[in-house]
Amino acid sequence: MLKKIFGAAGEEVVIEEFLEGPEISIHAFSDGRNYKMFPPSQDHKKIGEGNTGPNTGGIGAITPLPFIDTQLLQEIQNKIVAPTLQAMSDEGRPFTGILYPGLILTKDGPKILEFNARFGDPEAQIYMRLLQTDLLDIIDAAIDGKLEEIKIKWRDAAACNIVLCSAGYPGSYEKGKEISGIENAKKEKDIIVFHAGTKTEGGNLVTNGGRVLGVSSLGKSLGESLGKAYRAADKISFEGKYYRRDIGKSALYFKN
Ligand code: GLY
Repeated sequence: MLKKIFGAAGEEVVIEEFLEGPEISIHAFSDGRNYKMFPPSQDHKKIGEGNTGPNTGGIGAITPLPFIDTQLLQEIQNKIVAPTLQAMSDEGRPFTGILYPGLILTKDGPKILEFNARFGDPEAQIYMRLLQTDLLDIIDAAIDGKLEEIKIKWRDAAACNIVLCSAGYPGSYEKGKEISGIENAKKEKDIIVFHAGTKTEGGNLVTNGGRVLGVSSLGKSLGESLGKAYRAADKISFEGKYYRRDIGKSALYFKN
C-alpha cells in the first residue's frame, strides 16, 4: 500500500473470512429471466506445482469435474446462481451475459469467492472444446431473452488445457523469445493451441506475455485428455517455457 504497487485498487483493505478447500469455476448463460449452466470447471491459479507460490491469472483448466456430483451442482444452482440472478432482476437490473462465480468447496459447503461477468480465462478455451451449439446463437438468444428456447449441447467428453508461461510469470518476465513446435504439437489428436501472449516479429512467432499459449485437448476421460495435452505441450519450445506438470492431478486421483 505504501509503495502503491496496485494503484487505486490498493487504497482499501477488505477483511474477509478465509475460505479453505478446492476452488472451482461455475459459469451460466443468463438472459435476465432464465439461465443455463455450463459444466463445472476448475482452473489452477497458483504458479507452482502442488498449488504453491503466487497467484496467476490461471494456468491450466479442466472440465467436467469428477468430484462434483449432480446433488452438489444442484445445490450450487439453487443456493448461488439462481438467487444471485433473481436478486439482480428484483433490483431492476436483470443480468444478461455470462455469470461466473468462483467458488471454494469448504467443509461447510460451497462458498462464493468472487463473481465475474465474463468467461473465465483459460476456462473459455476448454468450454469451446465441449460446446457443440453455436456460441453466437446462444448469445443472440440471451440478448433476445429467449434462452429457454435454445437447446445447448455439450460434447460428452473431458477437456483440459495447459498454459505455457514465460519464466518469471506472474512476476516480471522477458518477451520476444522465438516459439517453435506448434505445428508439431497440433499433430497430436484433438489439440487446439490458443494464443494468449504471442506476436509475430520479423516473420517469427515470439512470446509477448506471461501466459503465452494454451494447449487444449479433448478425451473420453480426463486422463486421456491430459495425456494428449501434455504430449503436445512438450513439443512446443521457447526460451524460459514453464508449465505446471500437475494440472488436473487432484481431480484425476479423486475417489468418491
Ligand atoms: N480463470 C480465472 C479468471 O478468469 O478470472
